[in-house]
Amino acid sequence: MPGRLFPVGGPVSERDIVDREDFIASVQTRLADGQSIMLAGPRRIGKTSIAYEVLRRLKERGFYTASVDFFRLSDKREFAVSLINACLENRTGIRRTLDVLKDRAKTIAGMAKLTVKFKDLEFSLDLLQDNSDENALLEYALDLAEILADRDEKNMVVLFDEFQDASRVAGGDIYKKMRSHFQNHKNVSYLFLGSKEGMMKTLFANRKEAFYRFAVVLPIPPIPEDSWLAYITQKFGEQHIKADDKVIREILQKTGGHPQDTMLVCSEIYYTLLETGEKTITPEYLRLGYNRALLTLAQVYNEILDEIGQRTHAREVLKRIAAGDRVYIKRDNPNEIKRALDYLITKAVIEKSGRGSYKFVEPMFREYLLREI
Ligand SMILES: Nc1ncnc2c1ncn2[C@@H]1O[C@H](COP(=O)(O)OP(=O)(O)OP(=O)(O)O)[C@@H](O)[C@H]1O
Ligand SMILES: [Mg+2]
Repeated sequence: MPGRLFPVGGPVSERDIVDREDFIASVQTRLADGQSIMLAGPRRIGKTSIAYEVLRRLKERGFYTASVDFFRLSDKREFAVSLINACLENRTGIRRTLDVLKDRAKTIAGMAKLTVKFKDLEFSLDLLQDNSDENALLEYALDLAEILADRDEKNMVVLFDEFQDASRVAGGDIYKKMRSHFQNHKNVSYLFLGSKEGMMKTLFANRKEAFYRFAVVLPIPPIPEDSWLAYITQKFGEQHIKADDKVIREILQKTGGHPQDTMLVCSEIYYTLLETGEKTITPEYLRLGYNRALLTLAQVYNEILDEIGQRTHAREVLKRIAAGDRVYIKRDNPNEIKRALDYLITKAVIEKSGRGSYKFVEPMFREYLLREI
């Protein structure tokens, strides 16, 4: 079965990454040169897609690569194991090397063989025992990329996704610990991704934080309308569906070019057309597809609303911005409103669009709120 026409949810591969070519090339060049990079941006704008593509290209050029996603991890030991596995995969070609090791280590012959295979990596099989010291395991994990790269005479790039979650996973002192190891690495560069922009910026740009100046912070550029236009026209064209520029520009105007929202609306339009057998996107199909997409997004938006509902004034302020009303109202305490605004900015729900004015990062979220009011 062919893949979905407009892939949605999770990282997408090269052919569906619209317009990031220059950016991907630039990240790749810097990492290859040994520079570490931090990319932060709002949810679902394509951070992981960019990073995976960069790693794929570097691997093709002979680099060792490893990636760890903090979002999936729950404690220190899991983090250590995940990092060790990601590193060792470069040598063993298997994903969960530690599990395999653990199994084989049950026989004496198996153990002997393995000890030899990993001896140059200073690996102790004792670390595999369930009751082993998790701190020792972590210490080992944090230097493994460098040891491996050095022994195998390779350059290596390690990706940490949802990096701001590291403290939840491994405790508040994890950043300090990581930095103290990573700063001595000569053969490894690091790529950090995070969806909580405020936190990521603090971690890397605040003098008091452990990762201060450790990585270059690159802003992820927006996708130009013309690139979307070309991509969407081509995709529908492949299915013999007519979409004129006007209707596509209207899609983009409604989604603000937000990567996942745009993909989702296109996808819903496509499925609506499939159901009726029509081959032309009329304004009516655009409306239907858009409404379906909004319905799908309701769950995400409700979660965000629940979360920000806990904050004084945040929800009211957001509704005012959605409705285009004044943000500051006489009866409110201006400091509280300011705090609510800052909070909504750190949550990447809104961004400043000028002095005293704000706009939604996702226009569809605005529309959702307006319909709810
Ligand atoms: N360059 C792009 N071109 C087209 N669509 C994109 C692009 N980048 C992302 N998308 C869309 O956004 C979705 C999410 O992409 P990805 O997982 O890479 O984003 P992310 O920023 O890592 O998201 P999250 O905040 O959930 O980690 C993809 O499934 C795809 O639909
Ligand atoms: Mg991601």
